[in-house]
Amino acid sequence: MKSTAEIRRGFLDFFQKKGHQVVPSSPLVPENDPTLLFINAGMNQFKNVFLGLEKRPYTRATTAQRCVRAGGKHNDLENVGFTARHHTFFEMMGNFSFGDYFKQDAIHFAWEFLTSPDYLALDPNRLTVTVYHTDDEAYNIWADEIGVPKERIVRIGDNKGAEYESDNFWQMGDTGPCGPCTEIFYDHGPEIWGGPPGSAEEDGDRFIEIWNIVFMQFNRREDGTMEKLPRPSVDTGMGIERVAAIKQHVNSNYDIDIFKYLIQRAAQLTGVEVNKETRQSLNVIADHIRSCTFLIGDGVIPSNEGRGYVLRRIIRRAIRHGYLLGVRGTFFYKLVDDVIKVMEDAASYLDTSVKKEFIAKILRLEEEQFARTIERGINLLNDVISTLKEKGETVIPGDVAFTLLDTFGFPLDLTIDICKENGLTVDIAGFEAKMAEQRKLAKANSKFTVNYGDVIKTDLVTEYDFYNNNSLESTATVTAIYQGDRLVESVSSGDEAVIITDISPFYGESGGQVGDTGTIKNDQLIFDVTDTQKYALALGHHGKVAAGEVRVGDRVELEVDADRRKAIVLHHSVTHLLHSAVREVLGEHVHQKGSLNTFGVSRFDISNPEALSIEQMLRIESLVNQHIRANHPVVIREMSMEEAKALGAQALFTEKYGDVVRVVMMSEWSIELCGGLHVASTGEIGLFKLLSDSGISAGVRRLEYVAGDLAIQYMQRDSVLLRELTELAAKPKTELAAAITSSQARIKELEKYADSMKEQLALQQVDALLVQSEKVADAQLVFVKLNDLDVKSLKAVAFELANRVQTKGVFVLANVNKEGAGNLLVAIKGLTDKLNAGNLVRELAGRLGGKGGGKADQAMGSFTDYDHLVEELNKMKEEVKSQL
Ligand code: ALA
Repeated sequence: MKSTAEIRRGFLDFFQKKGHQVVPSSPLVPENDPTLLFINAGMNQFKNVFLGLEKRPYTRATTAQRCVRAGGKHNDLENVGFTARHHTFFEMMGNFSFGDYFKQDAIHFAWEFLTSPDYLALDPNRLTVTVYHTDDEAYNIWADEIGVPKERIVRIGDNKGAEYESDNFWQMGDTGPCGPCTEIFYDHGPEIWGGPPGSAEEDGDRFIEIWNIVFMQFNRREDGTMEKLPRPSVDTGMGIERVAAIKQHVNSNYDIDIFKYLIQRAAQLTGVEVNKETRQSLNVIADHIRSCTFLIGDGVIPSNEGRGYVLRRIIRRAIRHGYLLGVRGTFFYKLVDDVIKVMEDAASYLDTSVKKEFIAKILRLEEEQFARTIERGINLLNDVISTLKEKGETVIPGDVAFTLLDTFGFPLDLTIDICKENGLTVDIAGFEAKMAEQRKLAKANSKFTVNYGDVIKTDLVTEYDFYNNNSLESTATVTAIYQGDRLVESVSSGDEAVIITDISPFYGESGGQVGDTGTIKNDQLIFDVTDTQKYALALGHHGKVAAGEVRVGDRVELEVDADRRKAIVLHHSVTHLLHSAVREVLGEHVHQKGSLNTFGVSRFDISNPEALSIEQMLRIESLVNQHIRANHPVVIREMSMEEAKALGAQALFTEKYGDVVRVVMMSEWSIELCGGLHVASTGEIGLFKLLSDSGISAGVRRLEYVAGDLAIQYMQRDSVLLRELTELAAKPKTELAAAITSSQARIKELEKYADSMKEQLALQQVDALLVQSEKVADAQLVFVKLNDLDVKSLKAVAFELANRVQTKGVFVLANVNKEGAGNLLVAIKGLTDKLNAGNLVRELAGRLGGKGGGKADQAMGSFTDYDHLVEELNKMKEEVKSQL
């Protein structure tokens, strides 16, 4: 077992033999977990199983989980390229027990896999372990059962400043499953700097942690208390790149088979040798192409916020390292095929030409976009860096970093990276201040509101009543009230609040369906609900007390706004038909990127690199309407994921892959996993109208549409508009387009005619100008004020004047055009040894409150002081005369 692929397969086989279910890696985008940017550990997909909220048909599982640690809490982005073991993307091998085995088996399994000659066959003398300081049970298993010498079992206490804050106490986040852990370290040998865990030199590269076994025992609640989990469980993680490095006798993860191959390919594509100078950039590129390929493969698209922005930062960092290696075109996207090939089993789900082309296309678009500004940005930064260095300063001003971001698309961390390489830092506070200024401008008109998502973290559960026949009313008890960031006992008339109840017929925003509105009331209360949101397992009804008072514990009646709900449901149902229609018309590569189903214009975002043609839009619209007219019954079933897959159900990347899924079927043509509400049969939708297709970011199109009554209103409005237009044009509607085209052509023709007339009129003045002008020392001096000429005619006049005087002339033309702006033209013929048109116009414009400049024989300018024009023209004429 030596190659990374062999280790991956070997691990899963080993644990399968030990009774574990091999579960596929979850996508990198966490399902329904806004607190987590990207999947960053194998246990993420099992969080609710550990908490006892979700059941699976197995109690032992094993995975090869793809993870990304970039952006967010675990951010390794800036370390990549500088250390031997940091990655933005990596694979974590894991085995999990959900209330099945505990410490003893977990430790024995790990040791067997690591040291048995049948598996990794690592030298046990090179392994050191750590345990949580109070965990005698784990200590004794290592010492007595495994036989690890006591000097190589290290107890680690709360070394991070508080109880349970320790390298040996693992927690997924501020709340959630957690527990003490035991870690296994590999000693790469004394020739490498570093010391064992717990020593002062522990950060060196000699002792590398390769396996972490977490004994999941608690659920950390938001108030900090530790609640015992229903069943003690096990969560482990083995870093495959680190283990591959050991097996392949290298000290850096970047020297393992996968990276060797990618680095070689990156060197070929960038046209460099792999050597000391190029190695760091090649490492960065090889690392980043893995995260980019998998992130896009899992549905993330570069954008200016959230996950998409982290992706954009990674891509741009890679592109800049390509630039450092001398690349001036595109190269990065060409590595997608290589990643999918070298990652073998871990990337087999991306190994179709449609997916590969899609990922490459998204990367290529992003590369082309950044290519337009990278050079100018780097030049600007280099200029600033050299000026600072000359002055002996070391901090790049915040507004430079801001301009680099705002004008040239350089994410802040990219600027910091470049500065770091030059021994400089960035004035982050100054940068933040500029950003805040910009945000303030953008926000000036929008009212600041509390972000309840940050505030409401509750363990309460609301039982949903809305699945019962789209129920619209229920009786319930108030279980909590929030006001701003405070949990309160009561609110009264005029107060804004969020009310949580034990039961609710309201639908909380999710899956693209907006939250319901309505009322909560009883004898003492009328509370207007303006929105409903989900907070873990509770529903929060947002709104304002219109009259009376409400206290925690009160019995209340909840009533959903029925008309609005009906319109929302109808728009939601039609989204499913639309989803099938776009895939049929545009192709299977199309994925839903999000949707907003509301009671007005709704939208559906899809991954598609190009704009839709009119023909495609019409076909989509017709197909959806066809399935509305077919009046398919909407069948909703709960079933296992396997059954749903066998039916060919469409699932979102972010859909919850639980044990039991909810499948919504509208004939065989539309089968989707969905938790939302729907019409009983498609005929209720009535009519579907696609309104527009527009690009919202690279590779993502937004379709806007309406359905039901609203669609009818749209059609009616359009036909009224059309009638108005036909009346205005006095043409039947079939001839409207031709009529507009021909009037546009006629307008162009007339404009051309008018221009030539203007020029001819201007030229007719030339004779008069010559007659009226003076001749001094053989030179014709025309100093005159003209009216209403455009620049082209003014130039024609100067040209004609020059033509007509045989030998020498000075022509100073001042003109006030139709818009009232003053312009100057100075032309000189045969006298450029004595006079310079550029200087004359600059001088004259200067005296008349304008600007000017140009060549020696012809120059243009402007003026604003009309009152002194004639006076200054005469003055200049005298000055010119004196020089002849
Ligand atoms: N969840 C544990 C970790 O990420 C295994 O280290």
